[in-house]
Amino acid sequence: MRLAVLADIHGNLPALEAVCAVLESLQPDYVVLDGDLINAVPFNGEVVERVRGEPWCVVRGNHEFYLLDHGTERAPRGQEDPERWALSRWLAETMSREHALYLAALPDDCTLYFPGTQPIRVAHGVPGHNRTGFFPTMSPDQILAQVKEIPQRTLISAHTHVQLDRHVSWVESPDPLSDPHGELGRGVDGYDPTRCSPQGHWHVINPGSVGLPLNGDPRAQFALLESVPEEVEPGGWRVTHHRIEYDRRPALQAYYDSGMLAAGGPIAQLFYWELVTAEPEIICFYRWCQRHGYNPDQALRPALQAYIEATRRDAYVRTRDPLGTAGELP
Ligand SMILES: [Fe+2]
Ligand SMILES: [Fe+2]
Repeated sequence: MRLAVLADIHGNLPALEAVCAVLESLQPDYVVLDGDLINAVPFNGEVVERVRGEPWCVVRGNHEFYLLDHGTERAPRGQEDPERWALSRWLAETMSREHALYLAALPDDCTLYFPGTQPIRVAHGVPGHNRTGFFPTMSPDQILAQVKEIPQRTLISAHTHVQLDRHVSWVESPDPLSDPHGELGRGVDGYDPTRCSPQGHWHVINPGSVGLPLNGDPRAQFALLESVPEEVEPGGWRVTHHRIEYDRRPALQAYYDSGMLAAGGPIAQLFYWELVTAEPEIICFYRWCQRHGYNPDQALRPALQAYIEATRRDAYVRTRDPLGTAGELP
């Protein structure tokens, strides 16, 4: 049994098409898509149209809610700010009702029980929290804090846009007299059946992002899972990460041609930068603002201008940009 795992397409149709071409030759038995289909690259409707025509298992991510919550009481505070939330407004104005209805009816997580294999839980973050993410730098205890209530041993998570293949275990205290209720213990990397039970082991997998990787590699990323015996891979699923070269120029050009850059303002430009650099441009910008006393939620464009003048980040982006424009705002 081979399962292809895709996530975080973020409206990047050329990246999705590149991955689909590889899936054609890999011929997996099934495909799961772990949320964030839309928002960031302009081909939102095209991506939803392509995905809903496929017999895939699809769960919803937090970016679907920028559309589904827009104009409701669930929308983030300050959504009336025309600059900060301009991109969400553009998204809501340009998505068709038909595509919004498709996203509205997606589940937030699911469990896959393929015959003869161990079950896999799929959530954009963790079940019940779509913004929780796993990074390679996290300690076993930090990961266990997020997964210890999940009954399935294998979790597919997305959201961070960083590929991950990690085993963590809860090892009970070796001294039953000092720990009569088995409450003491510690998290460790890996799985050793002589030291812990299968119920204390989790395999956490992130396929990386198809459309907007943030691990420094701009290629379209996904994962292939293969069911194997427990002795080969604890939990029964072996992971191969893939990174696919594709031409990003049509996606970058679409920021101009679709009107998204003009309508979406600084946030649209920062997404353009992320597509170019595969680095977390938005988080870096917000952290810089915090350190230097700027409030981007109140004055976004002046804050971005100050950031560019202080860091020359636009020049860094331009040298890596296949279009060479760094997504300059009109
Ligand atoms: Fe995402
Ligand atoms: Fe996300």
